[in-house]
Amino acid sequence: MIAGLDLDRIIAERLASRSHWEGLLPRRKVGYTRSRLYLCDDFEVLALLWFPGATTPIHDHGDSYCATRVLAGELHVTRYLRSESVNGVGRSSLRLVGRNVQHVGEGDALEGARDLHSVANPTKVEALSIHVYAPRYSEFGIYEESGIRLATATARYDAVFDF
Ligand SMILES: [Fe+2]
Repeated sequence: MIAGLDLDRIIAERLASRSHWEGLLPRRKVGYTRSRLYLCDDFEVLALLWFPGATTPIHDHGDSYCATRVLAGELHVTRYLRSESVNGVGRSSLRLVGRNVQHVGEGDALEGARDLHSVANPTKVEALSIHVYAPRYSEFGIYEESGIRLATATARYDAVFDF
């Protein structure tokens, strides 16, 4: 449960239509693609297709909650917690809180702007995951391990569906 949402139900609803959208997901040789499956006022659901070698920078999800579930392959996830500077003095810092390999049926729930991760598919086969963001976010931060915020990025979609 994040942000008062029944994630299992939200994900189960998308899985019920998986045979309709999975074949439509855009592909590329490197990196990953983000396809929106569903959007409403409270949340959005994305399918991420991870190609061999794909990796993200360390990032937040704006102020949104984020829940993930692996549907195929495996994802290697590193989690961080960000601490703010004290009274605006100094810079924020990141604390490594864990690394794990997530297999089909596994995932994470990230709770807000200080809960960060990086995600990678270092395997030789594609991975597929479903992500719920509550609410939808349009901008997010990219960080170095030292805690320095490197950039503010705009969330992109490679495809937009309504399943
Ligand atoms: Fe993320």
